[in-house]
Amino acid sequence: MILTVTLNAALDVTYHLPRVARFGSNRVPEVAEQAGGKGVNVARVLRALGAEVAVTGLAGGATGLAIRQELGRAGLRDELVAVGGESRRTIAVVEQEDGDATMYLEPGPVVTEQEWRAFRSRFAGLLAGAGAVVLSGSLPRGLPVDAYRELVELARAGGVPAVLDADGPALAAGLTARPALVKPNRKELAAVAGIDDPVAGARVLLAAGAEAVAASLGPDGLLVVTERGGWLATPPEPVPGNPTGAGDAAVAALTLGLVRDEPWPDRLRRAVALSAATVLAPRAGEFDGAAYRRWLDRVRVEPLPVRTVSS
Ligand SMILES: Nc1ncnc2c1ncn2[C@@H]1O[C@H](COP(=O)(O)OP(=O)(O)OP(=O)(O)O)[C@@H](O)[C@H]1O
Ligand SMILES: [Mg+2]
Repeated sequence: MILTVTLNAALDVTYHLPRVARFGSNRVPEVAEQAGGKGVNVARVLRALGAEVAVTGLAGGATGLAIRQELGRAGLRDELVAVGGESRRTIAVVEQEDGDATMYLEPGPVVTEQEWRAFRSRFAGLLAGAGAVVLSGSLPRGLPVDAYRELVELARAGGVPAVLDADGPALAAGLTARPALVKPNRKELAAVAGIDDPVAGARVLLAAGAEAVAASLGPDGLLVVTERGGWLATPPEPVPGNPTGAGDAAVAALTLGLVRDEPWPDRLRRAVALSAATVLAPRAGEFDGAAYRRWLDRVRVEPLPVRTVSS
């Protein structure tokens, strides 16, 4: 089982309407709701790839209940821990005429120390059945900035590799516990490493404790740097569409490759084909299966020159 962690689980609400009348009354003919947060999206993709998954994290209030109901309908194993505060909703208002979206992001609950302790104890219990854990997304209010460091340490103590997709101080703190893999995008990597060049930035994160660094470069693909070498994988073609959630698909594919102990070039090939296929799909956690299979053999994977990856 692969365990995904979403500490600030969300209910993603999408309003579809022809056009928004600013400062007017807008009737919404179509509303869609699904459980969200990055870890939930990763779990959805993993499940579609045939992997056994469980979703944990924190959820509360009426919105928390709605999140859990949708997880159940989607057939995702629900191991969320209840909190007293109200879970957040994200509202995406999509104008059908041009497909443009405006997002409203609620903050979510303030988590107490006792709730955080209860979560760590549930997490430690779930590790027994886990082949890997995925820690994704921002931290809710109330949690210490080194929350991910604590979880990576627990995973390591249980012999379970941890994949971390976070940014800023939460990522910086998590690195020190030696996660098996971190997956920042270009901007997140530059911010944490303090260097714009992604290969040099990835080496900074290796030195800070990550066992491998995958930097996602949007339409330019995905690069991985490890102690043993590095590779750059590029999509067969740039894909027009909605890139939100492409990073989550890359994380899902890389985690599956980690659990199966595949060679890095194979992991990258799947991650890049799958994340490109995600750009074609309208909703987070979904991908175009035909495009994914078609692109798998067409992703280009090249080793990076040794002098750029070794210190
Ligand atoms: N327009 C595109 N065409 C083809 N592939 C893409 C495109 N955009 C993204 N990808 C693929 O998706 C991967 C992840 O994209 P990106 O770097 O945007 O992640 P991210 O910013 O972490 O996204 P997320 O919103 O999920 O957090 C890239 O490494 C690339 O392989
Ligand atoms: Mg991302």
